[in-house]
Amino acid sequence: MKIDFAEPSLTKTATIVLGVPVGNRLGPAATALDDAMEGAISHAIRVGHFEGKRKQILRFPVSAKAPVGQIFLVGLGEAKGLSARDFQDIGGTIFGHLNAAREARGTLAVEAVVGCRVKPEAIAANLAYGARLSSYRFDKYRTEKTKAAHGQPTLKRLSIQVKGAAKAKNCYAPLEKVGDGVFFTRDLVSEPANVLFPEALAKEAVKLRRLGVEVDVLDEKDMAKLGMGALLGVAQGSVRKPRIVTLRWLGAKRAKDKRPLALVGKGVTFDSGGISIKPSAHMEDMKWDMGGSAVVLGVIRALAARKARVNVVGVIGLTENMPSGTAQRPGDVVTSMSGQTIEVINTDAEGRLVLADALWYCQERFKPQAVIDLATLTGAIIVALGMEYAGVLANDDKLVTKLAKAGEAEGERLWRLPLDTAYDKDIDSDIADMKNVGSGRGAGSITAAQFLKRFIQDIPWAHIDIAGDTWANRSKPTVPKGGTAFGVRLLHRFITDNYEAG
Ligand code: BES
Ligand code: MN
Ligand code: ZN
Repeated sequence: MKIDFAEPSLTKTATIVLGVPVGNRLGPAATALDDAMEGAISHAIRVGHFEGKRKQILRFPVSAKAPVGQIFLVGLGEAKGLSARDFQDIGGTIFGHLNAAREARGTLAVEAVVGCRVKPEAIAANLAYGARLSSYRFDKYRTEKTKAAHGQPTLKRLSIQVKGAAKAKNCYAPLEKVGDGVFFTRDLVSEPANVLFPEALAKEAVKLRRLGVEVDVLDEKDMAKLGMGALLGVAQGSVRKPRIVTLRWLGAKRAKDKRPLALVGKGVTFDSGGISIKPSAHMEDMKWDMGGSAVVLGVIRALAARKARVNVVGVIGLTENMPSGTAQRPGDVVTSMSGQTIEVINTDAEGRLVLADALWYCQERFKPQAVIDLATLTGAIIVALGMEYAGVLANDDKLVTKLAKAGEAEGERLWRLPLDTAYDKDIDSDIADMKNVGSGRGAGSITAAQFLKRFIQDIPWAHIDIAGDTWANRSKPTVPKGGTAFGVRLLHRFITDNYEAG
């Protein structure tokens, strides 16, 4: 879908969308249009029982003599509380309605909303951003026939008309880059595992070099030399070779001496469970067990595209978890890069093994000022929080507060779960330094994080469990069903708000 910003000017064929808050107070431009149409809009509001409630929609054709083709009124809700984020949802809703009406193009007529704090240029930019986010489809494997049958969006062009269009365009520019990062992540998460295996995902990461990101790829020999026995143990069952990819976006003013923020991602391109094999129902979902790594790539892409003034490094651990004659067995003991030994009780608790080495390597090599990892780590987080919140576990209160705040602002919300040495005992092993699962008596997401904590040196760290949020079975206004890219927007904001100033 193409998006453009222009100064207001009506044409006879245009499909015009007008946002109307509760109370139906039209702005001066809408009032002028209403007057030019002999009160057709206010008439429609009256006879259509339109109240301006959030997401309420009223579509009406206008007389052949009118200066526009047809009008959609979209309810904005109470003007007072409207935030930039609300306008994104409204933009997504508008996209849905124009599309359902089979329109190929639409024009949003934007002006100041009386009583609302968001400025018109920001309203315009956020409506556009929301509409774009909602327009995403993963249809590269559909042929033309089934594309049409499955409701390929008809809307190809969205024009935003607003006074001061240049300002709105500037306001939209960074959002467009974040949107590109979101789409990149959604694409990766949606790819099937026969196409997107570790090497293929590493290749996608290498493409970010074009944006000025320094990307290194470690192969299994490099990893063996470094002593990454935990990650390699997971990988040994698959014919697809593992990779570690590191990414560096060094955009800070004092690029050299500013310690970076680190993002670490779980990249299991398919998780069958290994010898502790998963039930076959819904096993196909495990193609998106690389969601954490895809978020790391999406965030770094957005930062690089914006030339953000920050130093951020990414480390992603890429492997497949498969059962085979060479696969690791329950009871095997592996030695991680940190030197700590792990008894692998359940080969399906592979994410923490991958992260153990990825986290350690990241800290050793980059000496980051803080580290945040993302992983589709536990089914237990879905039991605890469902699909609305992701779980966050951390050794630093300030870090959690900042992350949660960024999540609220972006509609990617976090809920904190505790870490405590009392849970830690549960992963002590009889024969090694630790085992990779607890006793099975609840708190699965916490014991997983306690495990990760043993690989964190003395720095602020947060672990975000996105198992419930990486994939959506139902659409939301800015998140169509499928890969969500949950975490990209959250982390992008977290980074810009807290690290980019200096
Ligand atoms: N990738 C899964 C977690 C998962 C489950 C993500 C469902 C998304 C949806 C992870 O590797 C896993 O298998 N975890 C196990 C851990 C258990 C063996 C301690 C789980 O949650 O069942
Ligand atoms: Mn697993
Ligand atoms: Zn997994």
